[in-house]
Amino acid sequence: NGGRALAERHVLVTAGPTHEPIDPVRYIANRSSGKQGFAIAAAAANAGARVTLVAGPVHLPTPPGVDRIDVETAREMLAAVEAALPADVAVMVAAVADWRTADAAGQKLKKDGSGEPAPLALVENPDILAILGRHAQRPALVIGFAAETEKIAEHAQAKLTRKGADWIVANDVSGDVMGGDANAVRIVTADGIEGWESMSKDAVAAKLIEKVADALSPPLH
Ligand code: C5P
Repeated sequence: NGGRALAERHVLVTAGPTHEPIDPVRYIANRSSGKQGFAIAAAAANAGARVTLVAGPVHLPTPPGVDRIDVETAREMLAAVEAALPADVAVMVAAVADWRTADAAGQKLKKDGSGEPAPLALVENPDILAILGRHAQRPALVIGFAAETEKIAEHAQAKLTRKGADWIVANDVSGDVMGGDANAVRIVTADGIEGWESMSKDAVAAKLIEKVADALSPPLH
């Protein structure tokens, strides 16, 4: 198998945060660095896959052999993901903003002198993972991530069902995982939960891609 375990497979990865505009100069965002998703895209390319990486705004170089599509908002991310189908595997690592402004202002919002801040109405963003989990062109293997600060396994189990995913990679972000280089994850599947020791995000990526290759390879008997 070696370095070609995913030859002729198409792996679709989302990574990074999304930016949801408030006005031309302001946005809603989160602290996702994109490191874990980029590491997974790199590991999939190393395993011989064709890789499409849909990336929110991050400061990271494109891994060798990866087709990268840069987006800003959740809606752009969804459109890029759907345009990239069909895929054999989808790994949705992006920390998509749950909400966007109902109506981004065309001009910079100004203080009006009343002392009252401008109201900020929010609406929910599309859930890209949940849409993919029930898509007509659903990839054979749909993997989501869950950044939790409590009841990690429980929340991940619920997410598996709610989003129609095959696996949820759950991590505890109560420490300094976001932006950091190490990650301790649990893989939640219909078969149960696998806990992995804390390792670098590159090592998590390599181990996850190995597991993906195993899941896709036909049984030997
Ligand atoms: O619900 P929660 O945001 O915790 O779910 C996290 C998982 O769902 C991640 O895999 C993330 O990439 C995905 N997600 C998504 N679109 C959203 C919200 C989350 O694809 N709008």
